[in-house]
Amino acid sequence: MRDKILKLLVDNRNEFLSGETISTFLGITRSAVWKHIKSLQLDGFGIESRPGLGYRLIDLPEELDQVTLTEIMKTQLMGKSIEVHQAIDSTNNRARELALEGADEGTLIVAETQLEGRGRLGRNWISPRGKGIWMSLILRPNLPPDQAPRITTMAAVAIRNALSRATGLNIGIKWPNDIIIDDKKVCGILTEMHADIDSIHYVVLGIGINVNMTQGDFPAEISSTATSLRIALNRYLDRRQIIALIMEEIEETYLNYLENRDFKPILDQCRQHSVTLNRHVKVIGRDTTFEGFAVDFDEDGSLLVKKNDGNIAKVMSGDVSVRGEKGYV
Ligand code: BTN
Repeated sequence: MRDKILKLLVDNRNEFLSGETISTFLGITRSAVWKHIKSLQLDGFGIESRPGLGYRLIDLPEELDQVTLTEIMKTQLMGKSIEVHQAIDSTNNRARELALEGADEGTLIVAETQLEGRGRLGRNWISPRGKGIWMSLILRPNLPPDQAPRITTMAAVAIRNALSRATGLNIGIKWPNDIIIDDKKVCGILTEMHADIDSIHYVVLGIGINVNMTQGDFPAEISSTATSLRIALNRYLDRRQIIALIMEEIEETYLNYLENRDFKPILDQCRQHSVTLNRHVKVIGRDTTFEGFAVDFDEDGSLLVKKNDGNIAKVMSGDVSVRGEKGYV
């Protein structure tokens, strides 16, 4: 029925159709019409509703296109060159390919859907069409390879700040680089790098953000631990503005860091927004799993955990769950 209403509105685009006309034509009540219109609006259809006149379609859900994205970018470097794909295996793969061909720093690859989206630790990343931001940014930082993790930390801070500006929500960072709303994951970052012993050739910063996904879009395994901006805000969001804000924030934080080489302000922001610090955590590393209390970050960004035996463990990588009301999440 929703699709039939949509078809009527599309066929009469820019003209008002009264609730009564639609309800008589389709043989449903006016309140049923209203319910379907609401759900279409939540999915990004711009439908104007005017008392006495009815409903009219003014806009379809936004699509990502290279021209509009380039136009709205307020940056000098990040996202100035953009490649948009309708479907791709993984934007990180494409970014790697372009980086190896010599693409400029700041080149951004965006896709409407990924068929083989990748997460950290060899996991899959589900990337349904049109529902999220699936993108990869090429960076060429002049840093020693052992400092590459700082780039991910920097990105987590920048993305957190951009999402907070875009939504006004309370947004946290879960170590090392998950972006969290209400203890659920809304965004993940996958950094892949190509380097030799003393210099980084390129870094691909893969960013996945659940923007307009509904609860039903998440597979059962992650439906209790994942969320989207739409679920948190109960409204549809325009992905293009969010991409532009993220590019702005990354440009500022990244260029600032490379100029001053001062990691402390970034770490301080991580501390301020951390949902990991001062909580009981479970650390799942490559070889060991242990529990403890997250006390601080070390100056290189690693997590310091006070173990139950009193010793402090320095955690450089791996997965960390925090203890909540329903156990570790
Ligand atoms: C994580 O496990 O938290 C990291 C998820 C990263 C997903 C993004 S989506 C765009 C880019 N392409 C990929 O295949 N992965 C990253």
